[in-house]
Amino acid sequence: MTKRIGILTGGGDCPGLNAAICSVVKYATRYGYEVVGIKDAFKGLYEYDTMPLPQTRVRGILDRGGTILGSSNRANPFAYPCVGEDGKESVRDVSDICAANYQKMELAGLIVIGGDGTQGIAHQMMAKGVKVVGIPKTIDNDLEATEYTIGYQTAVNVAVDAIDRLHSTAESHDRIMICEVMGRYAGWIAMNAGIASGAEVILIPEVDYDIDKVIASLDKRHQSGVSFSIVVVAEGTKPKGGGHSLLKAGDATQQERLGGAGHHLAEQITARTSYDVRTTVLGHIQRGGTPSAFDRLLATQFGVAAVDLLIAEKFGRVAAYRGGKIVDVSMDKAIAKLKRVQEDGPLVKTARSLGIELGF
Ligand code: F6P
Repeated sequence: MTKRIGILTGGGDCPGLNAAICSVVKYATRYGYEVVGIKDAFKGLYEYDTMPLPQTRVRGILDRGGTILGSSNRANPFAYPCVGEDGKESVRDVSDICAANYQKMELAGLIVIGGDGTQGIAHQMMAKGVKVVGIPKTIDNDLEATEYTIGYQTAVNVAVDAIDRLHSTAESHDRIMICEVMGRYAGWIAMNAGIASGAEVILIPEVDYDIDKVIASLDKRHQSGVSFSIVVVAEGTKPKGGGHSLLKAGDATQQERLGGAGHHLAEQITARTSYDVRTTVLGHIQRGGTPSAFDRLLATQFGVAAVDLLIAEKFGRVAAYRGGKIVDVSMDKAIAKLKRVQEDGPLVKTARSLGIELGF
């Protein structure tokens, strides 16, 4: 077996990716492996764009946000956006070219750090002879395989910090402060950050919200003498009978871009009440900056687990965190369905017990 490992980061970036890369390089090097970074996700596999990753290259990156390898959420080899000489974009299947480049790289295997989209592509590439092992990352924490993904805890911390800050200004101005957080179609960031920061209303994508309930709960609070409220809205929420708020529709090469749920809610509250409403969209702030200690640790453990899986030739497996332990699960199971907040689960129960309005 060759003593060379490939590694790439795919999809949206998040804090902790560099910690995972650092861990893979340090551990694999101790086993006598050389590590090759593939740049910008599967784009680097298609274009044969790589970078050597000696130990010296990963020094000092453990605590840095982003990814030194670059990433892309538009580099699916099976639906790849290619620009022709006329400047027009067409979608092509370049997976055979990627597979051929993989063979040329003479790798013992490829470690793919990504969310459900990237792991799904990796799983498909296995049928083309690419030997993959997965590390789960996404601030959305929506992978069924694992209780925690890299980046999620940091995103929650960032959201809590921001909502704490909104609290004081909401109180000074007697305002309703809406905070829109990311998470795609899962409400993990909204629910956890909302509870941890003492929000009055939390709206999640898992259940369509009833605007009447939201307004009734704000009225009740304000009639009881409190003149401000914090409302946390996940970007993927939609009102009963309505659709998702979108910034851009999806196409063959990219998922739809969510955004605007907070502003839409503000419009509805403003139209029906006299409250002074402001909206903050946290956006990519949740994805940038220093990873929390938990994410660094998780990423480091996942890095070691992935190298172990690769050396043991357990391909098609994804490192996962379950019940306080690092385990591995099959890639197809890991991507089979999204992990979402349960309507009758413990978080919803906790929120309801505290009198937090959930809109359903
Ligand atoms: O999946 C991570 C995520 O940050 C989602 O929460 C969000 O909807 C999306 O990516 C944003 O993607 P982009 O970086 O393409 O705007």
